[in-house]
Amino acid sequence: MTHHATLPMPGPAQWGAEEPPPVNRRPDGGHGGLLPRLMPAHPGPVDLTEHVERFGAPPYRGAPRRLIGDVEAAGLTGRGGAAFPTYRKLAAMAAGRGPAPVVIGNGAEGEPASSKDKALLWFSPHLVLDGLQVAAEAVGSATVGLYIHRNPRLQERLEVAIAQRAAAGLDAAPVELTEAPHRFLAGEESALASRVSGGPALPRFKPPRASQRGVAGRRTLVQNVETLAHLALIARYGPGWFRSAGTPDEPGSMLATLHQADGRTGVVETTLGTPVADLLRLPAQAVLVGGYHGAWLPGAQAELLPLANAALRPLGAAVGAGVLAALPADRCGLAETARVVRYLALESAGQCGPCFNGLPRMAGALAELAGPWPRPQAQADLERWSGLVAGRGACHHPDGTVRLVRSALQVFAAEIDQHAHGHCTGTSGRPFLPLPAEPPLDDTDWR
Ligand SMILES: Cc1cc2nc3c(=O)[nH]c(=O)nc-3n(C[C@H](O)[C@H](O)[C@H](O)COP(=O)(O)O)c2cc1C
Ligand code: SF4
Repeated sequence: MTHHATLPMPGPAQWGAEEPPPVNRRPDGGHGGLLPRLMPAHPGPVDLTEHVERFGAPPYRGAPRRLIGDVEAAGLTGRGGAAFPTYRKLAAMAAGRGPAPVVIGNGAEGEPASSKDKALLWFSPHLVLDGLQVAAEAVGSATVGLYIHRNPRLQERLEVAIAQRAAAGLDAAPVELTEAPHRFLAGEESALASRVSGGPALPRFKPPRASQRGVAGRRTLVQNVETLAHLALIARYGPGWFRSAGTPDEPGSMLATLHQADGRTGVVETTLGTPVADLLRLPAQAVLVGGYHGAWLPGAQAELLPLANAALRPLGAAVGAGVLAALPADRCGLAETARVVRYLALESAGQCGPCFNGLPRMAGALAELAGPWPRPQAQADLERWSGLVAGRGACHHPDGTVRLVRSALQVFAAEIDQHAHGHCTGTSGRPFLPLPAEPPLDDTDWR
């Protein structure tokens, strides 16, 4: 049986509008391994009254560390992109010496192709806020923050939710909201730590990591907001319940942002291990997996795969933050990749030479490949620059960009050949993959 529930993607213009109902809703609200777990089982956001009726008060354990064994048994991994085991971060933070750590929920979601964190914060804010509280208790912290994508309506809704919880005495630690600038890198954890400390959202070289010296110089636990919502449910229902969805190696449900070839987009809650073909309407010429730091796969190959790292990693792809996009038959994959890489080059924080100099050159070479009659040297240049920038930055921006470019060179090899002869199989020049209308070009908008 396929478990997934669909919600409309709340683009800024739509938030608060009437939403069509999600599919696959369960009358029991999704307990017992059925979906949705994180998203509401009805159209519209969950307010505090409904949340407390359904889930009760935040599931505190009464002392630090007590939750960590359950998180280990549940096998929860971070939903911010890297799929790192959450219990290891909690345990390291709880065991650390010195002043108590800071805990921040990461809802920056700078990736233009992802909307799942905005959707979660909009529809189920109290699960995220419960998760923040129980994570703080687990690591012995009373300093808690939520870092969110900049949107006035989302901010207002969260301010109300936080104030209502404070009035109801639900939160052990007060929650401070910080808005992330609209930059691709704003959610990288060292950029987050700088921004929440009052500085610009710029990544920095590690060490020290945020876990060693983060917000205001204190040890900082950064967890994606979806990870925190899962944590809140594991604290309530236990690891066995969590594992009743997903695969033994990659348990639980996850939120994914889907871009169908017909242009429709949406956020779905699905289980890890769900066939890609159950999520995207296929066939498609190619599928982008994992967003703009992710990888293209040939459509015929993606059609046979589950949405799980065990299957994707050997192919150079990963679930990441759950973006899947089916490239329509009438678009040129090279042109789409060139648009995205131009955007990624403009999003370089400009702090590291190889990234600052290399990404624009890669974007230029890819734009040439995406046009008619490229010089044969353009592909060689692209490959050379990929080798020069990978692993050479303070953050993973160059590495993620190189992953996308290398996958495009493989998957669209036949298209490169076409372009070399002055042809292109794309018949529509309409952009498919979403990008901000006007990439920010100055240095003033990192706050
Ligand atoms: C360039 C870049 C951008 C990132 N953006 C986000 C983001 O918007 N949201 C997020 O949760 N994690 C983002 N991350 C990952 C964070 O650095 C961090 O690993 C994550 O928030 C940890 O949470 P998790 O373990 O719950 O996934 C980004 C990482 C990189 C390298
Ligand atoms: S690698 Fe690039 S994006 Fe990352 S900090 Fe350095 S210049 Fe900025």
